[in-house]
Amino acid sequence: MLKTRASLDKIKPYKPGKLIEELVREYGFTGEIIKLASNENPLGTSPKALAALSHSLTEVHRYPDNSCYALRNRLSEIHETPADFITVGNGSVEIILQAALAYLDPKSEAVMSSTSFIMYPVAINIAGAKPVVVPIKDWGHDLEGILEAITEKTRIVFVDNPNNPLGSVITREEMDDFIGKVPDHVLVIVDEAYYEYVGNMDYPRSLHYVHEGHNVIVLRTFSKIYGLAGLRVGYGFAKPDIIKSVNKVRLPFSVSRPAQIAALAALEDEDHRDESRALNEAGKLFLTKEFEGMGLDYVPPFGNFVFVRFKGEANPIAHALERRGIIIRPVGGHPDALRVSIGSADQNRKLVTALKEILAGKEAKG
Ligand SMILES: Cc1ncc(COP(=O)(O)O)c(C=O)c1O
Repeated sequence: MLKTRASLDKIKPYKPGKLIEELVREYGFTGEIIKLASNENPLGTSPKALAALSHSLTEVHRYPDNSCYALRNRLSEIHETPADFITVGNGSVEIILQAALAYLDPKSEAVMSSTSFIMYPVAINIAGAKPVVVPIKDWGHDLEGILEAITEKTRIVFVDNPNNPLGSVITREEMDDFIGKVPDHVLVIVDEAYYEYVGNMDYPRSLHYVHEGHNVIVLRTFSKIYGLAGLRVGYGFAKPDIIKSVNKVRLPFSVSRPAQIAALAALEDEDHRDESRALNEAGKLFLTKEFEGMGLDYVPPFGNFVFVRFKGEANPIAHALERRGIIIRPVGGHPDALRVSIGSADQNRKLVTALKEILAGKEAKG
């Protein structure tokens, strides 16, 4: 009989936000569908990236540059960090998986928070290692608890900052203290997918930890503020020995030629970035004020999404929204909460109107 790897049963595949196409198939919608389930950029892609992308298409018969030379060198200039400290992946999820495959084995452990990016347990289980889950505290990472959970067997600690789905942040002081206490045999993955959205609060300059020689990978992505989620480009900073290790388990040509070219162009589009940030700030203010008006609790958001809590089960609310063509993300482990991506002004208004109607009982249970 055909046998899979024994640990395969432990892997719960990554569950993405529902696609617009899926909702069309399920409900036969012909009108507008609003997707606020995957923290995508409601402004779309940078026009500069789109123009570069269309030029790149005549070259797709050629393999991409496996080393992502041009993109790594531009990132190196921008972040004043040598290019051999940088790796590029097929989305930052690829780098998360590579780190797990490079550093974890079936006898080892990786520590993560009970509420954080759902790719971490997937990667840990694919590597056959043991996820050690630390409950969140005060709607954020419990860094003390994470430190206490580290043992001789721990090889990786994952912290997303801002946290997805909570949207809360670890401050610079907290992170400095934490990084200083993590033992030498542990690699800390500081996942900064929403880095560009965090305002001028006391946010850590995590790249410094890499420059100072700590065992840290700092992850960033082109999927969020750069609006390139569909092309799959993420990148990471770490010491060259860590970069070399993660690259050993990298699939050849994992970052396509159009993706590299579009990412390179997106880096130069400051206007698109500024506009995206401003749109997000306005949406954040609008949604949080409306949630307050509705008497709903939320975690103060630092990314491009809001973790909002209802008085009872949130799933029926998510279904009622879906029936109105609005896709939202339920949150595992928090049955009273939904994660709402911040959309355009029009999308946010439509979401609030629909929510008010649903909560007023016009479309009660579903
Ligand atoms: C914390 C966090 N890290 C990484 C990612 C994945 O990013 P990418 O599209 O670059 O794989 C996400 C996406 O939602 C995220 O929330």
